[in-house]
Amino acid sequence: PAGDSASPQKREHWSGQTAFILAAIGSAVGLGNIWRFPGEAYENGGGAFMVPYLIALLTAGIPILFLENAIGHRFRGSAPLAMRRVHRNAEGVGWFHVAICFVIGLYYTAVIAWSLSYFWFSFGLDYADDPAGFFFNDYLQLGSDVTLSAQIVPSVALPLILVWALTIGILALGIHKGVERLNVVGIPLLVVTFGILAFRALSLPGASDGIEALFTPDFSVLTDPEVWIAAYGQVFFSLSLAYGVMITYASYRRRRSNVTGPALVVAFGNSSFSLLAGLAVFATLGFLAQTQGVGVDELENITGVSLSFVTFPAVIAQMPGGQFFGALFFASLVLAGLTSLISVIQTISAAFQDKFGWNPRIAAVAVGLVSAVLSVLGFSTASGLYLLDTVDQWSNQLGIVAGAVGMIAAALWFGRRGHELERHLAAVSTIRPGRYWPVLINVIALLLIYMFVSKAVSLAID
Ligand code: PHE
Repeated sequence: PAGDSASPQKREHWSGQTAFILAAIGSAVGLGNIWRFPGEAYENGGGAFMVPYLIALLTAGIPILFLENAIGHRFRGSAPLAMRRVHRNAEGVGWFHVAICFVIGLYYTAVIAWSLSYFWFSFGLDYADDPAGFFFNDYLQLGSDVTLSAQIVPSVALPLILVWALTIGILALGIHKGVERLNVVGIPLLVVTFGILAFRALSLPGASDGIEALFTPDFSVLTDPEVWIAAYGQVFFSLSLAYGVMITYASYRRRRSNVTGPALVVAFGNSSFSLLAGLAVFATLGFLAQTQGVGVDELENITGVSLSFVTFPAVIAQMPGGQFFGALFFASLVLAGLTSLISVIQTISAAFQDKFGWNPRIAAVAVGLVSAVLSVLGFSTASGLYLLDTVDQWSNQLGIVAGAVGMIAAALWFGRRGHELERHLAAVSTIRPGRYWPVLINVIALLLIYMFVSKAVSLAID
């Protein structure tokens, strides 16, 4: 098999199927589940969002997850190498994935670094008195008037450097000793820490009000295209699709591996985690609403950055045992984030390993150092927070749609590999994708093109 590889070294392998599944779940379960999913669901019809979400999962998430796994497993390369083997002119699609990973890695690290700081702050409940003021003024040091400041804030730079050092260290150990070990320990641990949190959240007074708010369905949203776009976007982001990540991870599986079965485990494991996070987050919000004597729908700051760094600290401060649960919450964010970040940076590092024959150590250090410098410059200054939003819009909403369409076009339209990949999956896997699978992927591509155009137009108008 080594003769099939462009790089001089033998390709690394996961030790087995479970290791792969845990690593892929590690990539999928991240800030997107804890932060993004509950808010998206709440804003897009509450309980009714489950309908487009499930449809998006079944019609796009799983088919594209199969596609990336098939490409990685059959063509055995990081994104650029695998895409070049799919079609000789498609290497650029893979580098595009790598570029998006690079961007997302920078901002993902920032959030992990903040969580690491907040893990630390939880022991003394430093943020208890005025969570918003603490986050924006004391911690990030965003003055009232700054939108662009280049002053590096040491308390943010330090955890950032720590996260990068950890990332470089883990990746330098390689797939087997580094990435795999992190996930084999980290993911079960995350299930425990987050499980305890969810249990605590669900037993708080007012929890049921929160859950009711999340799941009270507003079926009228089902006719709104924006809601469908949100559902498809959430599924792609959450399953790490169209970033080249799953291609890369699948390329380390052994030749005779069941491909579709584990992919299904990853998809449903990820969605279950999202659901659990949705319950926990809204149970907590129900408690908060009750202590403030307002309805859940009157609460503010219930998504994204403010949810984790303003609203939750406020709840933690009021809760018996807040120090413990606060530390547990931020530790969960760090774990969930780190296992995703590792997959993102590995995707970049693997691309350079395959292209230039670098070993994992050299690639990890090179990619890690460049990213570390840029992320410290970009995110430990006051402008970081503004950057976050812009980056999220362009890379997550536009970039990945382009990355997905490019991949589908290369594999199915120009490379005409649809049936070859289908046969490949059927030959190695327990669950056969079926001959409608390529058809479905074509339909998804059209849908994505529609999403791309409508999002681009709305961004341009802004
Ligand atoms: N899937 C991760 C999450 O839900 C984010 C991610 C995106 C990870 C892209 C890797 C690649 O948070």
